[in-house]
Amino acid sequence: MTQYKVPVLPGDGIGPEIIAEGRKVIDAAGERFGFDVEWIDYPHGADHYLATGELISEETLKELSGYPAIYLGSIGDPRIAPGILEKGILLTARFYFDQYVNLRPIKLLEGVLTPIKDKTSKDIDFVVVRENTEDFYVGVGGRAKKGESKNLLEVKRVLYSAKFGLDIETDSEEIGYQIGLISKEGTKRVIEYAFDLAEKRKKHVSSVDKANVLSDIYGFWREEFNAVSAKHPDVTTDFNFVDAMTMWFVKNPEWFDVVVTPNMFGDIITDLGAMIQGGLGLAPGGNINPNGTSMFEPIHGSAPKYKGQNKVNPIATIWAGAMLIEQLGEKEAADTIVNAIQKNILDGKVKTYDMGGKSTTSDVGDDIARIIKGE
Ligand code: IPM
Ligand code: MN
Repeated sequence: MTQYKVPVLPGDGIGPEIIAEGRKVIDAAGERFGFDVEWIDYPHGADHYLATGELISEETLKELSGYPAIYLGSIGDPRIAPGILEKGILLTARFYFDQYVNLRPIKLLEGVLTPIKDKTSKDIDFVVVRENTEDFYVGVGGRAKKGESKNLLEVKRVLYSAKFGLDIETDSEEIGYQIGLISKEGTKRVIEYAFDLAEKRKKHVSSVDKANVLSDIYGFWREEFNAVSAKHPDVTTDFNFVDAMTMWFVKNPEWFDVVVTPNMFGDIITDLGAMIQGGLGLAPGGNINPNGTSMFEPIHGSAPKYKGQNKVNPIATIWAGAMLIEQLGEKEAADTIVNAIQKNILDGKVKTYDMGGKSTTSDVGDDIARIIKGE
């Protein structure tokens, strides 16, 4: 029997409940397909931080880097200021493991209601490849108040007077700034990933940017896109400004096959993508380093108000678990999990409140595990 070791970080809020169902389903798939997963628990998240002051240590990250795939629940807790846990654990992990692809399938399963009138599962079936380590997520920024940083305020004064002829009293100002940055290598590799994926699908790649305004950063993105595109003459392409993209996702989702996007726009449009595929409870994602340690999680957050109620939909996390075992090489088991999710939905008897049902989180996990085992 094949043995896998998978680190698991259930995290905060509903994380432990949904991860329990994901593990249950993968274990069921293991029984059927002849593999066994040893789950290695990690406590990182709000409770651990409040008890020890530690977010996630270099030592733990190093240890985790010995595994090909990590299973993550959700990170974020109202007791702690926004950004501390998200940046200190989730983004730290994405960066440390150089998980440069955030792969987010937007697929409307049969029997799921989409808020878009007249669209069916034939129309909504694409994949967003979100760049995951650069752009406005690089963490370069700062604040300056009166008297704190003359230099920064001086920069602002020069810019303002050059552009608008305004004379600004430097030390009466307060500013915040954040810089977006993309590199040639970082852009090329994620766009190459998108084209390679499109070669195995419907051979179409759509680029997202805002090159009409943020022309330095996203003009560069387009150049790299065109360079990669030239190496794939059989793959058709289109360019979309991000604001227009939100319109096309709703109006013509059937146009898309693979969508490749810079990090921050990818964050925004994949929440929209999750809604058109039936809601955040159904949207999985993978943070991928094709040659290193990947990490699989639902797109949704920790939903603290539902914590401990056994109420939320575990399907996004179960689906992310399917992506995880596919990454480990268990393609057939992964497909079987997605098919079992599909069957659970079509049966329509065991579903959580968000899908109009009354079943619990664990009922749904049990049902999907039962389908997989063929009981
Ligand atoms: C996501 C989340 C994260 C992001 C946050 C929690 C840091 O919104 O995975 O989409 O912005 O990437
Ligand atoms: Mn997000």
